[in-house]
Amino acid sequence: MTATTLTAPAAADTVRVELGDRSYDIAIGPGLIDGAGARIAPLLTHPRVAVIADARVDALHGERLADALVQAGIAVERLTVPSGEAAKTPAVYAEVMERLLGLGIDRSTMLVALGGGVAGDLAGFVAATALRGLPFVQVPTTLLSQVDSAVGGKTGINSRHGKNLIGAFHQPRLVIADTAVLDTLPARELRAGYAEVVKYGAIDRPAFFDWLEAGGGAAILAGDSAARIRAIAESCRAKAAIVAADEREGGARALLNLGHTFGHALEAETGFGDRLLHGEGVAIGMVLALRLSARLGLAPAADAERLARHLAAVGLPTTLAEAGLGPADADRLLGHMAKDKKAEAGRVTFVLARGLGRAHLERGVDPAAVRALLTDDARA
Ligand SMILES: NC(=O)c1ccc[n+]([C@@H]2O[C@H](COP(=O)([O-])OP(=O)(O)OC[C@H]3O[C@@H](n4cnc5c(N)ncnc54)[C@H](O)[C@@H]3O)[C@@H](O)[C@H]2O)c1
Ligand SMILES: [Zn+2]
Repeated sequence: MTATTLTAPAAADTVRVELGDRSYDIAIGPGLIDGAGARIAPLLTHPRVAVIADARVDALHGERLADALVQAGIAVERLTVPSGEAAKTPAVYAEVMERLLGLGIDRSTMLVALGGGVAGDLAGFVAATALRGLPFVQVPTTLLSQVDSAVGGKTGINSRHGKNLIGAFHQPRLVIADTAVLDTLPARELRAGYAEVVKYGAIDRPAFFDWLEAGGGAAILAGDSAARIRAIAESCRAKAAIVAADEREGGARALLNLGHTFGHALEAETGFGDRLLHGEGVAIGMVLALRLSARLGLAPAADAERLARHLAAVGLPTTLAEAGLGPADADRLLGHMAKDKKAEAGRVTFVLARGLGRAHLERGVDPAAVRALLTDDARA
């Protein structure tokens, strides 16, 4: 595929998430924030919204969103939350809730989440629980949130016992993914979000992976608008299809965790912070998952190495050493995996693959094989 076909013009796209009477659209395109009022107004029974925004994003894009809403005749309340994972705590949740209730909202008040996955998860959980459920709109502003967290209805906050342990399923009424806001996102955050884009190709969209590898990925990271729209739409279609089949994660939805069992262990070991961003952990984790699949004779080793090559080519880490971990850390990583929220009675379900684009769930993986992989990878 040539670079010219990658940048075929696409002004905007819409992906429908089919969930019966809770179905909704994901609108994708540059500058969509400026038209947010016109999109949100028809969803309101009373022209009033409360925007819950990441403080940093609010300073960059909040005024524009508020103007767009006001222009559509909507009364706007604006609340900000600190940027970063620290906002997903019971304390911040309680503070936002009290401020919101103090505004005299009622059940017709629409909440609007503006920011990355942190603001979306927090505001979504506020929406799920305020007055037993308020309608809400996601305006995701990171690549990760546009392709992943804003879609699918998982909302929540962290407990001191672990990440995302307090939460609810609550679907948004609409998602507005403005691809131009990604221009202000730090390059490292953009790359980390890109790991989740690659994930969809690796789960069940091999042709999408081919396109990303052939230059689509580089174009997304370089700011090509058409490439971003195409990749975000394809990612949202992939996630929407899996969520529609299994909204509450009884089965197929677990495929979305490709690379995440390893990735979460790496995040836990590195302290859930700047040392290793979530998407970076997922990048290393996907490579480990494919390498484990190869060791178990399920997938060609060449597929694992092809995945590693592409992730490395765009500047993502692919080895434990790049996360600052060595062979001595293997047992600690195994310990984190056994404690993962998704482990049942200490048994870890892995998302493995029969090749790139052919992921499946594997329940009885021998911990010794995982240990050997981690030890060898950390030595490499
Ligand atoms: N609900 C789900 O299904 C789901 C799925 C995946 C991840 N998540 C959650 O998402 C969170 C991570 O989300 P994230 O990666 O978007 O992180 P984030 O929300 O913390 O955003 C990353 C950083 O980028 C800044 N930022 C955001 N948009 C910006 C923009 N347009 N310009 C400049 N700066 C901007 C933020 O202030 C923050 O500092 C985690 O808490 C994770 O648990 C949830
Ligand atoms: Zn993820």
